[in-house]
Parts: sequence; structure tokens; C-alpha cells
Amino acid sequence: MALPKLQIALDNNSIISSIKTLKQVGDVVDILEVGTILCLAEGSASIATVRALFPDKIILADTKCADAGKTVAENCRKAGANWMTVICCATIETMIAARDQVEDLQVELYGDWTFEQAKSWKENNINQVVYHQSRDALLSGKTWSEEDLNKIGKLIDMGFKVSVTGGLEIETVKLFKDLKVHAFIAGRGIRDAQDPKQAAIEFKQEIEKVFS
Ligand code: 5RP
Repeated sequence: MALPKLQIALDNNSIISSIKTLKQVGDVVDILEVGTILCLAEGSASIATVRALFPDKIILADTKCADAGKTVAENCRKAGANWMTVICCATIETMIAARDQVEDLQVELYGDWTFEQAKSWKENNINQVVYHQSRDALLSGKTWSEEDLNKIGKLIDMGFKVSVTGGLEIETVKLFKDLKVHAFIAGRGIRDAQDPKQAAIEFKQEIEKVFS
């Protein structure tokens, strides 16, 4: 089984700050995410900057797009992104329009969504989802539960590549040991570490230890 990938979420507030993070961890991680915060703060220029620095890495634009899928996705692609995200409550038309513009599309699962909707994403050739614990849910004390793990397993059984995210720490990785996770997406757990490069290396080592 292929090892799950490691994705850095660049939820930096500025391009300058994201460059600092990229210099520390860009070579260690597998996927570079231009985070929602950075997309909103700096727009397409932030994607173009990451692409200029890392011509060969997968770049995900975490737009969490809800509408105007074609235009948003086209802008992301032109700026250098391979993948982008749409929010799970977007209409299937928005998702299809976005899907046609980028190499791959991820549906971000937040709040209320159903397996019926997931079935329609799959039927429309949308093959990636991100299972997300929101920052706000985590801050209010919610954590990863058996219910979350079961839902992730069901999505994998449906044929989705499932990435997981939301306040991930190195210690969280082993919770997913029985699941074929596509990627672990970590932001603060790497960016805010005293030594971000070392934190990214330790995430990779833990993934290898748990999933080998
Ligand atoms: C927030 C996000 C974040 O990019 C993702 O959750 C990773 O960040 P962190 O590890 O800091 O929670 O999508 O909406």
C-alpha cells in the first residue's frame, strides 16, 4: 500500500510569511497547499509564488469554492495550481465546472453532507474528498471519534481518495492506522513548531512507522 502523503497547509497571512514556511518545509512535504487564509489574503499571486518556487510539486489551492466554479478553477490553474477545493454544499454544477478546469478536485467535508451527495460526486468523476475537523469545532473541545473514522472508511470504500485534516499533530496520525488515508494535511502542527522542518520530518517518519 502506498504511504499516505504529507501536505503542508500554508495558512499564512501573507506571501512573505508563506515563503518563510516554504523554505523550511517545501522540500520535505509531498503537497503544497495554498491555504484558504492565504488565498483570501493574497489571491492568485500566492499560488503563482508557490509555483515559481516549486515548479515540480503538486499545489492545491484551498479555495473552498462555493460558486463560480469554472472561473475560480481557471484562475487557480492559470496561477499554477494542480488541484483545488470546493465546499461540500456547492451545487454539483459548480463542482463539475471546477473539475473541468483543474487536474483534480477535492470536496471539503464540513458540517452537514450526506453519503447520497457523495455518491453523486463519485458518479460525476470527482474522486477526492477532505475529511475536516473545523478549527472552531476543535476549539470547542470536539476531537476525532469512532464515528469520524467509520465515515472516512465508508468514503474510502466508495472509492474516494480521502485526505484528513484539522489540528493534526504527530500523535494524531496513528488514529488512522487501519484506514487507507490519501494525505495528512497539517498546518499549525508544522508551521507553529519551534523547528518546522524537523516537525515535517517527524510527521513523515510517523506516517512511515504507522503505515509500513
Ligand atoms: C482550515 C484548513 C486548514 O488548512 C487545515 O485544517 C490544516 O490546518 P491546521 O492543521 O492548522 O488545522 O483547511 O480551513
